[in-house]
Amino acid sequence: MDTDEKKRLAGIEACRWVRDGMSLGLGTGSTVSHTIIELGRMVSEGEISVVGVPTSVATRDLAQTLGIPLTTLSEVGSLDLVIDGTDEFDPKFCLIKGGGGALTREKIVAQSSKAMIVVADERKQVDVLGKFHLPVEILQFEWRATSARLAEICPGGVALRGGENPFQTDNGGYIIDCDFGGAIDDPRTLESEILSIAGVVEVGLFCDMCDAVILAGEDRVETLVKNGGRLG
Ligand code: 5RP
Repeated sequence: MDTDEKKRLAGIEACRWVRDGMSLGLGTGSTVSHTIIELGRMVSEGEISVVGVPTSVATRDLAQTLGIPLTTLSEVGSLDLVIDGTDEFDPKFCLIKGGGGALTREKIVAQSSKAMIVVADERKQVDVLGKFHLPVEILQFEWRATSARLAEICPGGVALRGGENPFQTDNGGYIIDCDFGGAIDDPRTLESEILSIAGVVEVGLFCDMCDAVILAGEDRVETLVKNGGRLG
């Protein structure tokens, strides 16, 4: 099975957890876009009625095209479930997210959700987080100074995403990708440390948020449910 097919199968499998009447967080990325496409089919064929809160402009546009009704956290307060992709997950279901630059909105939506399911292919499963460069969203204002503070705590160095043509998030921020060389042993402490730097908007470490991972491997899709999580 190639990677695209794994993404497609994992994305579609997540829809098994969706029930009629649910309010859903709609994640961002190439894997969860398959979930959103399948949800669009279920809605258009009258199988379910749901409302969604998108985590990016791209996801909002996709959901609108598919006819999935959208709402806001202000309107619904909390969500029954968020389904999203990830860049890495570890055995404790901690995540690195933000490969698509949507980490801040993704985290706002995840923390307002009663449960979180992640869809992934097997490349995303790691023992220790940090091979994937950790995305940090920062303000454009004096971004070099903020980036320099990040470099002080990041052994492998930092890079402005997009370089001379900086990538801009949906919030107008920049992304600094931080190389921790596969050695983020204590993601919670690192999250607090990064968030204490002025100019940082959000960091792509998601701890104690994910309850299950739908994981597509070479010949099967399995659902890993976190012990003691909200879906266990
Ligand atoms: C976007 C994200 C994505 O969920 C993550 O990058 C995974 O994307 P993909 O499914 O395309 O590999 O965090 O900010």
